[in-house]
Amino acid sequence: MKVQRHLPPTAAPLGLPDLVKGVVGLLRPARACAKLESELKSYFGVRHVFLLTSGKAALATVLKSMKARSSRRQVIIPAYTCYSVPAAVHKAGLEVVLCDVNPHSLDFDLAKLQATVGENTLAIVTPHLFGQPADLKSVTAIAKPSGVFVIEDAAQAMGGRDRGQWLGTQGDVGFFSLGRGKNVSAGSGGVIVTNSDSVADGLSIVYKGLPVEPVSGLLANALTVVATKMLLHPLLYWLPAGLPFLGLGETKYSLDYPVCRMDGMRAGLLSSWRSRLEESNRCRIKTSQLFRRRLPLFVQTCGADPSDQSAYLRLPLLLPTAQQKAALCLIAKNCGLGVSASYPAPVSMIPEVASTYQSQRFPGAEALAARLVTLPLHCYVTEDDVDRIAMAVSRFSGEAKEAVAQGYKQTCVSAK
Ligand SMILES: Cc1ncc(COP(=O)(O)O)c(C=O)c1O
Repeated sequence: MKVQRHLPPTAAPLGLPDLVKGVVGLLRPARACAKLESELKSYFGVRHVFLLTSGKAALATVLKSMKARSSRRQVIIPAYTCYSVPAAVHKAGLEVVLCDVNPHSLDFDLAKLQATVGENTLAIVTPHLFGQPADLKSVTAIAKPSGVFVIEDAAQAMGGRDRGQWLGTQGDVGFFSLGRGKNVSAGSGGVIVTNSDSVADGLSIVYKGLPVEPVSGLLANALTVVATKMLLHPLLYWLPAGLPFLGLGETKYSLDYPVCRMDGMRAGLLSSWRSRLEESNRCRIKTSQLFRRRLPLFVQTCGADPSDQSAYLRLPLLLPTAQQKAALCLIAKNCGLGVSASYPAPVSMIPEVASTYQSQRFPGAEALAARLVTLPLHCYVTEDDVDRIAMAVSRFSGEAKEAVAQGYKQTCVSAK
C-alpha cells in the first residue's frame, strides 16, 4: 500500500447537507420520494418515473413488466457492457442474446443487430456506455417494424444529451443508475423514465408488488455512503485502493441483489441531485476537453471531434494493443492515476454464462475487453492530473513492449 495522491476512476461525492437530508428522508419517506419523482418528471420532461434500489433492479423490473404482456422471451444486449445487464435479464427470467459492438462507437454493430432481431425478440437494451450517446434512431428503425421494445440503458449517462434530447428519454423506456461511481449517487439507486402510457401501465403493476428494502439493506447503503464520503478524496483513496478484499472497481456477475422500491433515505440523499448532476457533468465535459487537447491522437474511441460536448462518465480510450493496455494499467495503478481497465471480458466470456456462447465470437467486444481503458473525468481531477495521465498514455504508446518487459513496478509519471 502506497501513501500518495490516488485518483478514484469515478467519483460522485455527497456533501454533509446531503447526509442530513438523507436522515430527514428516512423519517418522512413518502414526502422525499414524491418530491424526487416530481423533480425528475419535470427535469427530464417525462410523464412517468419509478424509483428503485439500483439500476439493475430498474432494468429487471422493466423486463418483468414487458414479459408479463408478451410471449417473446429473448432480450438483445451488447456483447460488451456492464455485467449487471445480462444479470438483470436473467433475473427477469429471460434469455440473453448477444450482439457484437463497433469498438469505435461502443454502440451495436447495426448490421449485426438487424440480423439478430427475430420473432422471439422482446426487447433491445441499448447502451450509452460511459455516457457516449448511442444511435437510438437506427436502433429504433430496426426494432419498431418487428414490434421490439427499445430500452435505453442510460445507467452511465444521466444528464447527457444527444442533439438536445436527454439520454434515457428517446426509447420506449430508459433507466439511470444512482450507484457509487455514477454521475450522481445515493450509494445505490435506480430510476426508470418513460413517456409511454402503456409501458407505464405494465410497470405500475409490477412496481406495486415490489417491497421496500429491509432495514439491513438500508443500513448497508448508509454505511457505504458514509465510507465513500470519507475515503473518496484523492488524498485518502490510496487506503481503500490498497485493500484488495474490498474489490474496488471489480466487475461481478451476480443475481443476488434486491429488487425493491426506493426508500426515503436514498430519496433524501438526492435532495440536491439537480445541482450535483449539473456540476458533475460540467466538470466531466471540461476535463474531457483537456484530455482531447493533450491526447489528440489517442482519444479516438469517442471520435476525435474536439467540439464533442458529451458528458462522459469516464473517457474511453482504445489503445492499439492489449500489451499497451496492460502496461498503462500497471503504471496507472502504481501511480494512482485513476485509469480503469473497464470490463475485463465480453459478456460471452463471463464464467457464469460462458457455456451458452461457446460457439459464438464477438470480435468487436473482444477488442474492447483487450484494449479499452477509461480515463477519470470527475470533479477531483485537476489539470496537473490530466498532464500526468496524458504523459503516461503518451509514453506507453511507443514503449509498451519494453515497459512490460521491465516490469515498470515503481516508475511514476510526473508532469513537472
Ligand atoms: C451500463 C450499465 N448498465 C446497468 C448498470 C447497473 O446499474 P447499478 O449498478 O445501479 O445496478 C450499470 C452499473 O454500473 C452500468 O454501468
